[in-house]
Amino acid sequence: MTTRFSGKVALVTGGAAGIGAATAKAFALEGARVVVSDIDVQGGEGTVAAIAAAGGEAVFIPCDVSDNDAVSALIERSVATWGRLDIAFNNAGVDIEKSKLADGDVETYDRIMDTNVRGVWLCMKHQIPVMLEQGGGAIVNTASVAGLGAAPKMSIYSASKHAVIGLTRSAAVEYAKKGIRVNAVCPAVIDTDMFRRAAAADPRKAEMAVAMHPVGRLGQAEEIAEAVLYLCSDMAGFTTGVALPVDGGSTAV
Ligand SMILES: NC(=O)c1ccc[n+]([C@@H]2O[C@H](COP(=O)([O-])OP(=O)(O)OC[C@H]3O[C@@H](n4cnc5c(N)ncnc54)[C@H](O)[C@@H]3O)[C@@H](O)[C@H]2O)c1
Repeated sequence: MTTRFSGKVALVTGGAAGIGAATAKAFALEGARVVVSDIDVQGGEGTVAAIAAAGGEAVFIPCDVSDNDAVSALIERSVATWGRLDIAFNNAGVDIEKSKLADGDVETYDRIMDTNVRGVWLCMKHQIPVMLEQGGGAIVNTASVAGLGAAPKMSIYSASKHAVIGLTRSAAVEYAKKGIRVNAVCPAVIDTDMFRRAAAADPRKAEMAVAMHPVGRLGQAEEIAEAVLYLCSDMAGFTTGVALPVDGGSTAV
């Protein structure tokens, strides 16, 4: 166990699986006390158990990030549990769209926007007052390479991730002088349940996903966690308002 985040409290949404679970574990292994949050209670408790087994400290607090009252309660309970909130990784997201724009339906639009955009906005809305009172903090939001360019058959998802970057940049500028840094990570295709569900529905997808990365492979959740930890660390003290691709070179092509 290292101590880069000793004394810090980190909240991770979407912490039951994939990128969120890997990042919650990484924060805990570097000394942070962690709040794991998710709508998936079993998965969230599993992440907490894995952290405890590795000698780290974490609690699970369930929350649907699209629900204002639930997010408000999550932040209150996080502070009540660990006494402060230094770091927030707003990562919960859904990717449930497989059709061209004109074939999309209103329910899918609402569900993606509610989780990916409203959820990130609500989380920051309730986290920032706590950080202002403490005199600073670091926030990372999960966007995507789909927030940096086109994503065929995922136009709503792409719009939601462009919006996450807009929220990130605006908040970064608004709170820059208050000691709160706000950045986004933009993963390409990461080998999590989200990708596996899409690949199971369309086996060609797995092949195409590998081919889109110049490095010739998918990313791993732990590789996104490393970038998030860097952005939340003192090493990134002069970095705010960036949308950092962690993408195996895919946006360089
Ligand atoms: N996997 C990829 O290829 C990839 C690429 C780019 C960006 N992303 C983004 O990374 C983030 C994490 O994705 P992942 O790949 O780990 O997916 P995942 O499906 O493994 O994990 C997402 C987690 O978010 C939770 N969640 C969903 N809706 C929620 C809500 N309303 N409130 C609280 N929790 C909710 C789920 O229960 C799940 O545990 C997402 O924002 C996703 O859009 C993923």
